[in-house]
Amino acid sequence: MHFLPDEIDQYAVNHSQKEPELLQALNTETWQTVLNPRMLSGTYQGRLLSIISKLINPKNILEIGTYTGYSALCMCEGMKSTGSLHTIDKNEELFDLQRKYFDLSPWGAQMHQHVGNAIDILPTIDEKFDLVFIDADKANYSNYFDLIIDKMNPGGVILSDNVLWSGKVVQEIDPKDIDTKELVIYNKKVNEDDRVETILLPIRDGLTITRVK
Ligand SMILES: C[S@@+](CC[C@H](N)C(=O)[O-])C[C@H]1O[C@@H](n2cnc3c(N)ncnc32)[C@H](O)[C@@H]1O
Repeated sequence: MHFLPDEIDQYAVNHSQKEPELLQALNTETWQTVLNPRMLSGTYQGRLLSIISKLINPKNILEIGTYTGYSALCMCEGMKSTGSLHTIDKNEELFDLQRKYFDLSPWGAQMHQHVGNAIDILPTIDEKFDLVFIDADKANYSNYFDLIIDKMNPGGVILSDNVLWSGKVVQEIDPKDIDTKELVIYNKKVNEDDRVETILLPIRDGLTITRVK
């Protein structure tokens, strides 16, 4: 969902960096061959992830919710040459497509795929992270935060996607809508936790930047 008027949104896109060729190809292949292509971050948000990563210049990156690997590749653009990216997805059918594009990139050997439920996999990754992207099941965002906060280096950044959830976070919540309920809890939690400082950006479906003190 875009909250900006179309004209302003298009102007922002037109005045932002172009999508690199490899990502154009992955974007196209995802839309042609994979279910739910709207889940892919896309050109504009991808360029945002890239520039945030370049500003942080992280050594270790963690992603929860790989999908076809688009956002993982965007974040690798800013990774230190000695760094690594760990990315988790429960959908094993996406593994080969992710690997195809990871190996076409300069970072293939540094990109580690984990297949399974992120709640089970996170405790098994023995790393400290400088950049984390949370972009999987919304109902578990608070659980993901709790599992990663002690794995963050000071000054590290946690990005959380879809935190405005098409605007549902400010509407009356259907008691059966667990995702919205949990996102509202998460947004409050990361804004009130003394260990971090948070800004929620109304970009695309809402992206939170949370910096660990
Ligand atoms: C929105 S997509 C990720 C998009 C990707 N980050 C990008 O920007 O291109 C969400 C992904 O999270 C995965 N996912 C959902 N629940 C999960 C869970 N409990 N554990 C691991 N992966 C999960 C889904 O299989 C899906 O591929």
